[in-house]
Amino acid sequence: MTLQLNDTVPNFTQDSTKGPINFFDYAGNSWVVLFSHPKDFTPVCTTELGAVAKLKPEFDSRDVKILGVSVDAAQDHEKWARDIEETQGVKLNFPLLADRNRRVSFLYDMIHPNASDTMTVRTVFIIDPNKKLRLTLTYPASTGRNFQEILRVVDSLQLTDKHKVATPADWRQGQDVIILPAVSNDEAMRLFPQGWKEHRPYLRTTRQPAA
Ligand code: BEZ
Repeated sequence: MTLQLNDTVPNFTQDSTKGPINFFDYAGNSWVVLFSHPKDFTPVCTTELGAVAKLKPEFDSRDVKILGVSVDAAQDHEKWARDIEETQGVKLNFPLLADRNRRVSFLYDMIHPNASDTMTVRTVFIIDPNKKLRLTLTYPASTGRNFQEILRVVDSLQLTDKHKVATPADWRQGQDVIILPAVSNDEAMRLFPQGWKEHRPYLRTTRQPAA
């Protein structure tokens, strides 16, 4: 099944390092970052899980729950968690699905047979509180992901859900944003009383609105 942006994501129940997880129950009314990596006891994955664990307070502060997916058994995950703690200096502080039967991997199209028949690729899904898919990205096994970028996208999604703005290339929290082209100048005067800069009629930037 190929999931596309704004599709409602499918639910599942799968074993994990925290026992069986029903995805929708786990998500509740929060945002979720669901991400897969190829295999336990592999070097890039070890650094990725450490990086995500270190960023957990940042995800928490944005009301984002984290859920990892790996095709190994929960007992392997637990052994590997000890390696992650020793080598990355941080405890695994979010659940890792034990997707031995690859139910979740196939459901979310995380196995790309021309890359590997058995291992998942490095996929990230950002899912909103309505269970809609808001971002997907896929990296090859050889390239570890930048999880600061995932936080940056969450910031953009949460901001642009609330205000009639979009965020420009390389935008970071606190920087100027773009007024949506569909907003007329009359409406913009009401929505953005602080004013804006008109670089072109279709490109107007303004200070980031308060949350
Ligand atoms: C890794 O996580 O280091 C890795 C996993 C599968 C293939 C290559 C690298």
